[in-house]
Amino acid sequence: MKLSPLQSRLAASFVASCLLVALYFALFSPNVALAAELKRPSPIILDDADLSLELSTGESVDSAYEPDFPAFDRSIIGRAIAEASSLTNNEATPMNVVAGTTQYFMFSISGSSSRETRQGSLELRDEHYAMGERDAGAGADADADLAERDSDGLGSDGSEKIEKRQASRKVYISANTCLQPQPKDPSKTAAAPPQLTLFLSTSSSNQNPGPGQDAKSQSSVAFTEGAVMYNVTTASSDVYIGVFAPNISSSFTGIYNFEIAPSTEGYFHTFNVDKDADLIWVDSDAQGALMITHNLTQSPDPTVQAQIMGTEPYVMFAQNDNDGSINGVRYSYCGLQNYAQIAAAKNGERFKVLSGMTKRGQPNLPKQQFFFSGLNASSNYTAILAQNGKNGNLSLSGNNVVGGGGHVFKATNFTTKSNHGNCAIVLNLDFCDQVAYSVPSNPNYGNSTVLAKFYDGYASSVYANFQKALAQVQCEAPTTQRYSLTRNCTNCEAAYKEWLCSVTIPRCEDFSVPADYLHSRAMSQPFPNGEVLDQDTLRQLNFQNTTAFNSSRNPLIDSVVKPGPYKEVLPCDDLCYNLVQSCPASLGFSCPRPGDVGYKDSYYPRPKATSGDITCNYQGSAHIVSGTTMVVVKPWVVLGGSVMGLMMVLVL
Ligand SMILES: *[C@@H]1O[C@H](CO)[C@@H](O)[C@H](O)[C@H]1NC(C)=O
Ligand SMILES: *[C@@H]1O[C@H](CO)[C@@H](O)[C@H](O)[C@H]1NC(C)=O
Ligand SMILES: *[C@@H]1O[C@H](CO)[C@@H](O)[C@H](O)[C@H]1NC(C)=O
Ligand SMILES: *[C@@H]1O[C@H](CO)[C@@H](O)[C@H](O)[C@H]1NC(C)=O
Ligand SMILES: *[C@@H]1O[C@H](CO)[C@@H](O)[C@H](O)[C@H]1NC(C)=O
Ligand SMILES: *[C@@H]1O[C@H](CO)[C@@H](O)[C@H](O)[C@H]1NC(C)=O
Ligand SMILES: *[C@@H]1O[C@H](CO)[C@@H](O)[C@H](O)[C@H]1NC(C)=O
Ligand SMILES: *[C@@H]1O[C@H](CO)[C@@H](O)[C@H](O)[C@H]1NC(C)=O
Ligand SMILES: *[C@@H]1O[C@H](CO)[C@@H](O)[C@H](O)[C@H]1NC(C)=O
Ligand SMILES: *[C@@H]1O[C@H](CO)[C@@H](O)[C@H](O)[C@H]1NC(C)=O
Repeated sequence: MKLSPLQSRLAASFVASCLLVALYFALFSPNVALAAELKRPSPIILDDADLSLELSTGESVDSAYEPDFPAFDRSIIGRAIAEASSLTNNEATPMNVVAGTTQYFMFSISGSSSRETRQGSLELRDEHYAMGERDAGAGADADADLAERDSDGLGSDGSEKIEKRQASRKVYISANTCLQPQPKDPSKTAAAPPQLTLFLSTSSSNQNPGPGQDAKSQSSVAFTEGAVMYNVTTASSDVYIGVFAPNISSSFTGIYNFEIAPSTEGYFHTFNVDKDADLIWVDSDAQGALMITHNLTQSPDPTVQAQIMGTEPYVMFAQNDNDGSINGVRYSYCGLQNYAQIAAAKNGERFKVLSGMTKRGQPNLPKQQFFFSGLNASSNYTAILAQNGKNGNLSLSGNNVVGGGGHVFKATNFTTKSNHGNCAIVLNLDFCDQVAYSVPSNPNYGNSTVLAKFYDGYASSVYANFQKALAQVQCEAPTTQRYSLTRNCTNCEAAYKEWLCSVTIPRCEDFSVPADYLHSRAMSQPFPNGEVLDQDTLRQLNFQNTTAFNSSRNPLIDSVVKPGPYKEVLPCDDLCYNLVQSCPASLGFSCPRPGDVGYKDSYYPRPKATSGDITCNYQGSAHIVSGTTMVVVKPWVVLGGSVMGLMMVLVL
């Protein structure tokens, strides 16, 4: 077959270029940067079907060309496909990466779409081809030239190029690991697989940042628990990114999958584990737990509050600490979605989780609560609060939203109670509407709803009697005749209600918990499973054979619910003082002072600093751990509590 003059010129110069490249490879051991520079011109040769056909059949060039081409194909074209992913502003790009390899990305700050970028490359390749033809001897220089042009946004318009060069922009890169290699035998491998590493270069001379590249031309940062946030200020228009998956040991199997998003406005995926936890552990029982968020607004405006009550901004993940499936992805929103044992997503309860809004706790500001069941007894759990999108607004999540990739907060630890099963969480009570904690219970008595009815019904019946007594006191009298200049009957009613709910609805803790602020109750009664503490155990526990240890505060609890031995978190003593100060002296309330008979069986002083332990009970108390920058959760308006049968129960 004959080649036309133009074709033979083309073929000759092409072969010359190839030989030059081959020589270059032979002389200087090829590094990755070179491969990157060369990869782009090659597809155009394949695209040009006529030319390659002619070349492969041309007798004179055949033998010289043929052996080189497959090598060219494997080492360079193969890489080119892997490298081509271009990223879009505020858009998550999912990608698999096999252990031991690197995935490459490019982000053009100008915001040009990926198609435009690709188009530009093609045009330039044509240009390069022409150059190679004109001056075959300067092939290597031309390649360098190409790399320079190629990285500059590829516009044929020179002014656009200059504009891009001059703009210095901040670029925020974030990524989340969504899938990671799994241990072949989870019972033997507790550790997580190694983390991915993000490599970043803004130099067109290093378009494939990754391990093995010149460290000076790139920066690198390893993912932490499956997440990375990295920012760079750059004057160049393109940012080159490599995500490297390290080799994994033979005890793991599978690949990594991650999503990466660049942004010129702010991180797409975020986490913050330095700030104190936004999720507060209120209480747990043997199979469930109650968590709340902080106040979602401080605004007293009913319109603002109503609007917030109509949202559920957060999702929550929980994990048994014995289960390592989230190790390595604890800061990754999509990782948690894939691996967390329990996920409480808005409208998507995969587990037995009830998520909702509540205003419980003075001053009745909106919060989100998570009440979940189906947990194992006596187990340590981690709860992780997360937000899908901006401020939990689902319409502000996902692609094209700054920060739309989700936010992960610091984890909160909590523990479930023992399987004696005689403490159970009650909430949503009609009368004692501020109560939301574990109370003495017995599974044989009834479910949480039935239990709540028992306690609430008793409290409200006592309150009815109190109101009759209070009605005899001059509340509406002129100031001079009132019982107090600072408190009125409204204050008294509130203080009494709070006291009463704490008295009649004791906060329950496991009998096995040894803490000295807890008070043992009903020690000589049988547990729900029929077990009784034997004399030896009682002796070891220094059992005092008195009513305070032998029974519950309210004898009805022992005769109706029959919880058996439990420990009570005593009410804070200031609740009692508040009641005495708020109500008319004629009602005859009084409080034992520390050291008085009955004080130790009735109250516990409120600690000055929070420690995470609930040493005394008040409405709204929760396990709050003090931290350096802690969101201080102050006690809600104090309520009252005391011992039935001791002082203060004169008007029943
Ligand atoms: C950008 O990165 C620097 C250090 O790499 C860090 O100190 C700074 O806080 C980051 N900025 C933002 C907004 O994350
Ligand atoms: C990863 O493993 C492959 C083969 O098992 C090996 O060739 C390569 O050098 C390893 N890479 C690293 C960074 O250890
Ligand atoms: C409960 O324990 C079993 C056995 O240890 C475990 O398989 C299961 O995942 C645990 N469930 C929860 C919710 O922690
Ligand atoms: C829970 O954590 C505590 C303290 O970290 C530890 O003493 C206890 O053994 C753990 N319990 C379980 C069931 O792992
Ligand atoms: C939660 O528990 C883990 C594991 O026991 C521990 O490393 C971590 O410090 C705990 N976090 C807090 C806030 O106590
Ligand atoms: C609790 O028990 C009562 C009576 O047995 C039943 O009507 C109610 O549906 C139960 N509630 C739940 C949440 O199971
Ligand atoms: C009682 O006092 C409070 C302020 O402490 C006031 O808001 C309330 O209106 C008073 N109630 C009556 C009935 O006077
Ligand atoms: C406690 O004392 C009562 C009599 O006051 C006695 O009947 C009972 O057996 C004693 N219980 C224990 C466990 O000592
Ligand atoms: C303690 O309880 C047991 C069993 O209910 C009872 O026999 C005993 O009399 C009680 N002791 C006192 C001092 O109340
Ligand atoms: C909610 O706000 C009130 C008033 O600022 C505060 O006393 C209370 O502790 C806050 N509660 C939570 C859970 O943050």
